[in-house]
Amino acid sequence: MTYTLRVSRFHPDSPEERFFSEFEIDAEDGMTVLDALIWLKENKDGSLSFRYSCRMGVCGSCGMLINGYPMLACNTQLAELGAAVVTVEPLPNHPVIRDLVPELSSLFDKHRGVRPHIERGEPDVAPKAELAQSIGEHKSYSQFSYCIKCGICVSACPTCATDPAYTGPQALAQAHRYSQDSLDDGAPARMEAVDKEHVIFNCHYAGACSEACPKGVDPALAIQLFKRRMAAAAWGLWEAQKPTAELPQQGPNLKPDIPPPPARTA
Ligand code: SF4
Ligand code: FES
Repeated sequence: MTYTLRVSRFHPDSPEERFFSEFEIDAEDGMTVLDALIWLKENKDGSLSFRYSCRMGVCGSCGMLINGYPMLACNTQLAELGAAVVTVEPLPNHPVIRDLVPELSSLFDKHRGVRPHIERGEPDVAPKAELAQSIGEHKSYSQFSYCIKCGICVSACPTCATDPAYTGPQALAQAHRYSQDSLDDGAPARMEAVDKEHVIFNCHYAGACSEACPKGVDPALAIQLFKRRMAAAAWGLWEAQKPTAELPQQGPNLKPDIPPPPARTA
């Protein structure tokens, strides 16, 4: 099938000029939006700029707005879009460096701000034995650890759209992920870090982040669970309310009716 790709163009030397380049492309079976962009760059316009690395939904580099919805270009086949015209734009709610390349420094700065690492209460005391963790303890946070830092949830979030200072769903979900880890002692410091203006209580629970997340992280759930933890801690009830059962696991957003990939060639 032949598709028309409308690709948003932007060059930092002429920031007032934004326009769309249109290309026709004969799509092979299983061709993804990223495959199409690579083909266009190799065969039609070498100046087309976009970011990618793994081509398998793991590195988080290829987030783009595809027909108005933030998605991973490598995880989206042209055929599943159900439209002959495919419009590709850079992720919203991030500055644009060039064409489809978003500037993600703010995403990573906000991520760093929630102390996204295991913190031990006595960092200078070496453990005397392996720090064990039960399967239930692991499952209580494992879903939130699937985040690939693609920034798609931030692009989908209406609060991020109206308040650029808002920390956003990616970082807040990771505040919960690390605080929920039974090996971590950093929850009090993280609760202090997020209990400020433009941070966790600015989440209005629109849920758009969880709907858009390509890895099934469900950041909206993580934010609500962390708010609950903060409220329980403020009332001295955290130990009594600490969840012991594992969460129901939400898998990645499964898409129905996707054509199968082409047959293996090697
Ligand atoms: S929570 Fe999901 S959408 Fe947001 S950065 Fe992580 S993987 Fe991407
Ligand atoms: S290229 Fe790595 S997630 Fe798409």
